[in-house]
Amino acid sequence: MWGGRFAEGPSAIMREINASIPFDKALWRQDIMASKAHVAMLGAQGIVSGEDMAAISAGLDQVAAEYEANGVPENWDLEDIHMTTESRLAELIGPAAGRLHTARSRNDQVATDFRLWVREACANAEAGLTALQRALVTRAGEHAASIMPGFTHLQTAQPVTLGHHLMAYVEMAARDVSRFAAARARMDQCPLGAAALAGTGFPIDRAMTATALGFAEPTRNSLDSVSDRDFALDYLMAASQCALHLSRLAEEFIIWASQPFGFVVLPDALSTGSSIMPQKKNPDAAELVRGHAGRIIGSLTSLMITMKGLPLAYSKDMQDDKPPVFEAAGLLTLCLAAMEGMVAGATFRTERMRAAAELGYATATDLADWLVRQANIPFREAHHITGAAVKAAEAKGAALDQLSLAELQAIDARIDDRVFAALSVEASVAARASYGGTSPDQVRARVAEARGRLGME
Ligand code: ARG
Repeated sequence: MWGGRFAEGPSAIMREINASIPFDKALWRQDIMASKAHVAMLGAQGIVSGEDMAAISAGLDQVAAEYEANGVPENWDLEDIHMTTESRLAELIGPAAGRLHTARSRNDQVATDFRLWVREACANAEAGLTALQRALVTRAGEHAASIMPGFTHLQTAQPVTLGHHLMAYVEMAARDVSRFAAARARMDQCPLGAAALAGTGFPIDRAMTATALGFAEPTRNSLDSVSDRDFALDYLMAASQCALHLSRLAEEFIIWASQPFGFVVLPDALSTGSSIMPQKKNPDAAELVRGHAGRIIGSLTSLMITMKGLPLAYSKDMQDDKPPVFEAAGLLTLCLAAMEGMVAGATFRTERMRAAAELGYATATDLADWLVRQANIPFREAHHITGAAVKAAEAKGAALDQLSLAELQAIDARIDDRVFAALSVEASVAARASYGGTSPDQVRARVAEARGRLGME
């Protein structure tokens, strides 16, 4: 298709290094859609005849039907999806096919196709995140009052409720949704008609193709249009942050499913066995979500580095934009589905969680708070007294509320027997009723709001 000025064909190496059809065939639907919008515009503007327009459009439909039925053929000589489709169109309808590429270039064509693809990937991620949030909110509602240890430094800190813990991930997922939505809004401009780099001398109607392809408006600068891959980077940034969140949730499940913790039994459907140790049930899906986050973040790094330092406008380096995005999108879809299934299907061992919350002096802060409130002791001093109480309990090998009143009063005489009511894990979580706190009432309120936002009423 470009051989006019060449005396010799490309070497085998050139053909192989140049061919993007093995991966960009994934763009075939977008390529046909954009070509149909383009030819309809060429017809409407009188740039091609009505007859040729109709023949090209019908021919594109036929190519699409063939791809749908048999897949996209991979011929390296045809380089990419754009030339593969145009060459098949020529076989089907003859020389009129050659008019499709009027007033366009593969540079604006690929920028348009890829944007359409990435726009859909954003919408898919938003849908997957919504499904995950619904699963989290449902389980959080069931466990608004189930007590578990809350950790900092992975050391027991204060009791929290499982519902509260799960709702933390709903917040992360909501921010992820907003990042994908913002990326989608930012890419809502159509590059088609920028042509090779400078625009075109043909009287095209860029607003018409933009509207036909569901974009708000055409892009404003032809050089930027063909050299910009911010939309793909925006997607990968949102995907990376989302994958990072999913890896944290996956890690919690991995820890919780370990025997020493025993907080959760993962669904069989998302676990595997060991070929050598019959007793094993491994959290492989969660581990792969944790691992895939590395590959997704790697995709972002890969495209960032491909794009850095490129002069305007299109350079062939940019052909390497697609594999990282396709890989990240495939992995992200799987990770979202795996974590939704894991959340929905997990059996939480609330008795183990509650027992763990009793250990590790998780209510020490409650003793300090009680000293502040009931004995009007400054918090720093109360902190010190409580430290002594923890030390005494540790020496006795007992929990804080298993110290006798005499033992507590030996540490500070201002302690009286009302303190015991404050030292239970139930009292501890119930007391943390500040807005956004872990108390069951707060969690129920947040769950109710989230159900409303997520259309779960
Ligand atoms: N396959 C190419 C890509 O994905 C299409 C654009 C080719 N443009 C060019 N000037 N050779 O980047």
